[in-house]
Formats: sequence, C-alpha cells, structure tokens
Amino acid sequence: MCSASAAQDRARGAVISVECSMCHGADGIAPSEEVPNIAGQHYAYLLRQLENYQNGRRAGTIMQEVLRGLSRQQLKDVSAYFASIRISVAKVQTGGRDDVSRR
Ligand code: HEC
Repeated sequence: MCSASAAQDRARGAVISVECSMCHGADGIAPSEEVPNIAGQHYAYLLRQLENYQNGRRAGTIMQEVLRGLSRQQLKDVSAYFASIRISVAKVQTGGRDDVSRR
C-alpha cells in the first residue's frame, strides 16, 4: 500500500468518507454504540463487507441505502482510507464502563 496509486485511492477515499462520518465518525471511530468502528480494519474485510451490502449478501439496516450508486472503485477507495487509519488498543482494565462481566 505504498504505491502512488494506493495513496490516490486513500485520498479519494477520504473525500467519500465524509458521507460515512456522521455515523462512523470522521476517524472511523463511531460515537454511537449502535454503529461499528471501522478505523484500522483490514482493507480486504472492509471491501468485502461493502460489496456484500451492495449485492444483498449481507443484510444491513442502513448500509444498502448508503452505498447505493457507489462504484466498485469508490468502495475500494473508501476501504483503503479507513484501513489506513492507525489505531492503538489500550490494555484491558477490569471494572470499567465496558467491562461485560458487570452487565
Ligand atoms: C446512517 C448511518 C451510516 C452511514 C452514513 C454509514 N454507515 Fe456503515 N454502518 C452503519 C450501521 C448502523 C452499521 C451496522 C450494520 C448494519 O446495520 O448494517 C454499519 C456497518 C458498516 C460496515 C460493516 C462493519 C463490520 O464490522 O462488519 C462497514 C464496513 C461500513 N458500515 C462502512 C461504511 C462506509 C464506508 C460508509 C460511507 C460510504 C458508511 N458505512 C456509512 C451506519 C452507517
């Protein structure tokens, strides 16, 4: 993903990502617990999910609607953009807000 064309894909993807940001967050970290984080997710996985939403293989609540009219190249571009976001994962702390053992 270091070639000039990969950089172009990401740059075009960043523009498309504006359409995603109100739900998935500008940086791919979703503000709502109802929406998955997609920052730093693998490119191949992201692209497959988007294709599956578009072709109906994956049922979604809203994603079919969102992706209507996007070309395969646009799906690649936006996948490249979100995959390129670097995330870091903090060490687990028990007893916090997200500690499932407390639910
Ligand atoms: C109106 C809100 C909304 C918008 C806009 C939106 N999404 Fe989503 N997205 C969701 C929700 C909610 C889900 C959870 C699954 C479902 O309901 O389909 C989801 C699921 C996904 C998934 C699957 C994640 C996984 O872990 O499998 C991907 C990938 C994704 N969205 C990418 C995008 C991209 C790229 C855009 C912009 C082109 C976008 N979404 C725009 C709400 C949105």
